Amino acid sequence: MADQIVKKEDDAEKKVEEVLAANDSEKEEAKVEETKAEEKKEAKPAISKEPFKNLHVIVVTSGKGGVGKTTSSAAIATGLAQKGHKTAVLDFDVGLRNLDLIMGCERRVVYDFINVIQDEAKLNQALIKDRHVENLFVLPASQTKDKDALTLEGVEKVFRELDSMNFEYVVCDSPAGIETGALMALYFADEAIVTTNPEVSSVRDSDRIIGILNAKSRRSELEMEPVAAKLLLTRYVPSRVKRSEMLSVEDVQELLTIPLLGVIPESEDVLKASNSGNPIILNEASDAGKAYGDAVERLLGNEVPLRFVTEKKGIFAKIFKK
Ligand SMILES: Nc1ncnc2c1ncn2[C@@H]1O[C@H](COP(=O)(O)OP(=O)(O)OP(=O)(O)O)[C@@H](O)[C@H]1O
Ligand SMILES: [Mg+2]
Repeated sequence: MADQIVKKEDDAEKKVEEVLAANDSEKEEAKVEETKAEEKKEAKPAISKEPFKNLHVIVVTSGKGGVGKTTSSAAIATGLAQKGHKTAVLDFDVGLRNLDLIMGCERRVVYDFINVIQDEAKLNQALIKDRHVENLFVLPASQTKDKDALTLEGVEKVFRELDSMNFEYVVCDSPAGIETGALMALYFADEAIVTTNPEVSSVRDSDRIIGILNAKSRRSELEMEPVAAKLLLTRYVPSRVKRSEMLSVEDVQELLTIPLLGVIPESEDVLKASNSGNPIILNEASDAGKAYGDAVERLLGNEVPLRFVTEKKGIFAKIFKK
């Protein structure tokens, strides 16, 4: 028995040696990569500790794609501006460019975020004044440039300029995943709206992004107060929760343990709003629009009761008070 174990260990050692020998060239390559990464680290810009004068940076983020970030960025930025706050909404989804469509300003795009970063346009040439509400401006993403064009220095430059133009809020619409664009979008955040659907995969990916907010943001690097992460639960269907086909608000809150900013019900009005370029919050008859209105109130520190989290009663149930 003991002999067998010794033999097994010998075999294993041999294998390791073989692998090590075969890996010599890979090791060399890895070393080169490591040096490159080290150089990149050293080349990382010194981010100023100086706080912004007025500007409050909000990132609308998620791990999983397609959960409603762009819809929510458009609605919340519009809501903040409706409340009288000078607000800019920025599209960090380089290559895709969706926000301008949902904001209904796609035909007025001349310059974009990357043009400003690369000094090909002035910020005020690229900012598009919203046609629905006062105090609101859209900075579209580039459809043609590659993602590397987005740099931390570039983003900081734009934010400093927005601050000097007396903007109060910048809402950053993040691309999906945890790639460059998403990291750039969250780096300067003071507050994060973690957009999540009531399903396990979305919750798990949100948990990952909360970890990144706590580790890779400017606030964490400068050991400042952490980014205030808040949960926005979107596409909620109370009847499906009742049938246990969807996670409930309570389930999601228990898993993510961040304060709840709002619950947005699933609604056909959202797609109609996107297709017509009118952010859903402008539709005051829609439950989803009202729910975004409530979320904006909470963002501004006002207490508002939760709505649209229980099943709507049909006409008969109402009559017979079931
Ligand atoms: N409350 C809602 N009810 C119904 N549909 C919704 C709701 N919220 C978002 N949607 C729909 O979900 C889809 C994805 O929304 P959106 O583009 O905002 O997500 P996203 O997170 O920005 O996606 P991506 O990760 O690709 O950027 C769209 O078709 C949108 O209309
Ligand atoms: Mg999007």
